[in-house]
Amino acid sequence: MLETADTTPAEDITTESSTVDPAFRDDVLRGLAEPIPAILARWLYDRRGSELFDDITRLEAYYPTRTETALLTRIMPEIAAALPPGMAVVEFGAGSATKTPLLLDAIHPASYVPIDISGDYLYEAAGVVDERFGQLPVYPVVADFTRDLALPSEIGAQPRLGFFPGSTIGNFVPRSATDLLRHFRALLGTGARLLIGMDRVKSVDRLIAAYDDPERVTAAFNLNLIDRINRELHGTIPPGAFVHEARWNDMLGRIEMHLVAVRNVNFTIEGRAFSFAAGSSIHTENSHKYGERGGRLLLLAGGWTPVAEWTDPAADFALILAEAQPNRFAP
Ligand code: AVJ
Repeated sequence: MLETADTTPAEDITTESSTVDPAFRDDVLRGLAEPIPAILARWLYDRRGSELFDDITRLEAYYPTRTETALLTRIMPEIAAALPPGMAVVEFGAGSATKTPLLLDAIHPASYVPIDISGDYLYEAAGVVDERFGQLPVYPVVADFTRDLALPSEIGAQPRLGFFPGSTIGNFVPRSATDLLRHFRALLGTGARLLIGMDRVKSVDRLIAAYDDPERVTAAFNLNLIDRINRELHGTIPPGAFVHEARWNDMLGRIEMHLVAVRNVNFTIEGRAFSFAAGSSIHTENSHKYGERGGRLLLLAGGWTPVAEWTDPAADFALILAEAQPNRFAP
């Protein structure tokens, strides 16, 4: 059953793809004027960007998606045994066509609530789930899950399971990741569970290869942001002026994607002038990697107590089940 939630705040509904999101314009103009020029990673994911990311997930060098999917498949009986039946599954993101059905098949939930900022994408993905799980009430919520939102009232007192796979948490710097986890806790309530995927620290060679693949798909994904700026914001960034670069920042434990100027370059966006010196960069995405202790500490800092953790045999990727335990008096 596909239901239309009545809880979506109007300002969270994304605009038609033909019109330009004013937040994109503001973020780009503001971000490029910063001392360290940066653009929020979310703007990489327009229609073309999402297609390219989809292609990335199938690359030999990009291990996270297939590793997490295989891991989920293997541990699903254990996850199901750790959870009560009749849960409301709240997925942060529209849901992947492969990972979400694995979970829904195993735990027999009472409802499914996918939350995504892109309405088109959300309804498409929710429709796929609805077709496969005819009896399951599906309540898609068009919203930015980093902001305040209301869960559909129809889920009532069903125990809640947050589902946040894909290592999307890695896109957020730890301060924002902590805020986000605390926000999830406030939204889902005490007693809720969270199943979250985190990518692990590993050899720099493998990390760089995963974000700078020989097929150049990740490069196309990053460079698509320039096309998007030129197309939607009347940008005049010359093609070829920037190249894709993936860097491992060891101190901060993250892969960074940059667009690096290959020469001195001047351009305008919405009539505003920018100049970049050869070698300077626009920081476009972070992908934080967590060790065993670091990942658990992040969850604890966000108000979630880890109760079980699984990894693939090579320990490339982790899935952690956590609980929003009541805040107890602590010594
Ligand atoms: C979608 C954030 C999980 O960080 O691995 C992949 C995005 N960027 N290749 C990641 C991404 C370049 C991906 N996440």
